[in-house]
Amino acid sequence: MTQRDLPGLLNQYVKTGIRALDYGCGAGLMMPLLKEARFDLEGMDISANMLSVAVSDHKNTAFTHINSASVPRPDRLYDLVMLSYVLVEMASLSEMEAVLHEVYRVMKPGGVAVVIVSSEQKFQGHWLLVDNDFPENRKLTSGAHVKCRVVGSDVIFEDFFWTDEDYRSVFSKSGLNVLEWHQSLGKVDDGLPWKDELYSPLFSIYILGR
Ligand SMILES: C[S@@+](CC[C@H](N)C(=O)[O-])C[C@H]1O[C@@H](n2cnc3c(N)ncnc32)[C@H](O)[C@@H]1O
Repeated sequence: MTQRDLPGLLNQYVKTGIRALDYGCGAGLMMPLLKEARFDLEGMDISANMLSVAVSDHKNTAFTHINSASVPRPDRLYDLVMLSYVLVEMASLSEMEAVLHEVYRVMKPGGVAVVIVSSEQKFQGHWLLVDNDFPENRKLTSGAHVKCRVVGSDVIFEDFFWTDEDYRSVFSKSGLNVLEWHQSLGKVDDGLPWKDELYSPLFSIYILGR
């Protein structure tokens, strides 16, 4: 759903050029979509292990191993900074704020940051894509440890729970404005037996300007 809606959002909001940073790129799973949208892309991550996978899968892309909140590039460089499922891994709002301050610094005026995170609803309800039946998800307070499994796989994500209000407070402290808050839903036309995805979002996409 997110992958379905992202190209249109990028086309609508990124107007200043094509230079892009995939911050917290991990293994580079977002990169095909960004390259297809014609971005001139580089990736950065704090995990050397994740970067080693990205390097072997994306031969013509530059990757840099960084410390958190430290992008070794000049001010106002990028038209787009993507943070896809990165903030959900942060244990504190102060860490998030430091990262977003750095994102603000390297964004061009008129450029955008796209932040994809879990929705507040993801850890309750019944989904086609996600099994959230873990004891960790019973007490959803800001900063709580949460867990999900991708249905049909052994892949378990262990993240931190943050509310929309939490994210908005750090965006605002970092000087970033919410241009759009997009929450994709499953559509009958998708041809999949969606469950709660039809009524409730699994993910939030924030389009941020500076
Ligand atoms: C769930 S993965 C998502 C990877 C990729 N963005 C994607 O959508 O497939 C989160 C990634 O964020 C990275 N990460 C977590 N905290 C970070 C930070 N403070 N600075 C940079 N990268 C970070 C992790 O190392 C990991 O590779």
